[in-house]
Amino acid sequence: MNKFVKISNKINSFKKQIQVDSDKSISIRCILLASQAIGKSRIYNLLDSEDVINALKSIKKLGVNYKKRKNYCEIYGYGLNSFNNKKDIEINAGNSGTLARLILGLLVDNKNKVKLLGDKSLSDRDFSRVTEPLKRFGATVNSNKKKLPVEITGSEFLHPINYEEKIGSAQCKSSVMLAALKTPGITKIKAKKSRDHTEILFKNLKIPIKISKKTYYDYIEIEGKKNYRGFNYTVPGDISSCSFFLVLTILSKKSSLIIKNVNINSSRLGIINILKKMNANIKIKNKINYKGELIGDIFVKSTNNLKAIKCPKKMNSSAIDEFLIIFLLAAKAKGISTFKDLGELNKKESPRLDIGVNFLQKIGIKVIRNRNNLKIFGNPDLNLKGKFTMKGFRKDHRVFMMTCIAALTIGGDWKIFDIDSINTSFPNFIKKINKIGAKIN
Ligand code: S3P
Repeated sequence: MNKFVKISNKINSFKKQIQVDSDKSISIRCILLASQAIGKSRIYNLLDSEDVINALKSIKKLGVNYKKRKNYCEIYGYGLNSFNNKKDIEINAGNSGTLARLILGLLVDNKNKVKLLGDKSLSDRDFSRVTEPLKRFGATVNSNKKKLPVEITGSEFLHPINYEEKIGSAQCKSSVMLAALKTPGITKIKAKKSRDHTEILFKNLKIPIKISKKTYYDYIEIEGKKNYRGFNYTVPGDISSCSFFLVLTILSKKSSLIIKNVNINSSRLGIINILKKMNANIKIKNKINYKGELIGDIFVKSTNNLKAIKCPKKMNSSAIDEFLIIFLLAAKAKGISTFKDLGELNKKESPRLDIGVNFLQKIGIKVIRNRNNLKIFGNPDLNLKGKFTMKGFRKDHRVFMMTCIAALTIGGDWKIFDIDSINTSFPNFIKKINKIGAKIN
């Protein structure tokens, strides 16, 4: 479906408090880990989005039941042997790279063949980054020239591996961690820094894990084949979803917003650190530690003297899903912003680096691109007039949401296609934007 929204007015100034939808990374990890626990798990505030529904459908097809109640989802695991599909089956991860890559890790010991499928966007992404290490555990894995469909048949005779994760991809690290959970002996991982929700959940569930954190890499050891019990968990708000509202507020006149109950894990805080470096008026208050994750309320205000940023490479992983919205901010900042080594952006739900550069040029911003490095020439007076259309972005939810924020803050008469893309990560996006004062339908 190509349903579009039209936005022709900037948002009026606002002063509001909201919550954003729940964290997608944590929701998917909770479902997968609950599927392997002994007994009942209750996940409160689970994100109700397509990626998460596909995670529930996948574990169900593999033999694990769940029930959605009013405030929580109950998942009935029966240990590390929970998956019991009697014959070869297909599962479909839809748009979700996280689900696809992580569930493959859990299938390294699965007796029967599982064929993993995805939507058009996911079918264009590289799976060799996880299929190669999973083969080394002893699973039989075949792909379609490194892409989906991937067929995996597990082995009874798995052996632990030493694995070096060099990209800074939490999906790759977590896929191997979940395979390690199913494998007798100790798997050793050296992983370039990336989001660490899987490690935190392992610790919380008392799965034997040792972590030694160094400046650029984390060294992780996991002892496999140790069962753990069902658990209760309340998923906090997603900082990636929050980021659109932060930029909306910063770029709007005389506005302020409080976003309650957001995950502020340091491995995801790139966006906040970048916004602060750009001179944005932003504070985190009421911090609490919840089962190893940090949660807090974010207070943000409009800022009219935004500064360009020289974004250090080491921030790339902790802001990996936020660069599109950061580019928009750079477009309105004073000075030339620079970004380095953003090749991973082109490996997401859409080629976000290419799309980001095209978008900036479309709105009249000068960009110099040298391979995966960007210089964005900001224009604080940017104020669009005329008609703009945004389509053909492979239904990438983050491209859609970034464009809405642009339309609401820099003007122009916009037609933005593929509204249904938000259902993968942030189904309430339009509702929340309207709560703040926009009139999008
Ligand atoms: C995710 C990790 C990131 C991110 C994705 C979610 C996760 O991908 O882009 O949206 O939940 O582990 P990579 O780990 O491949 O960078």
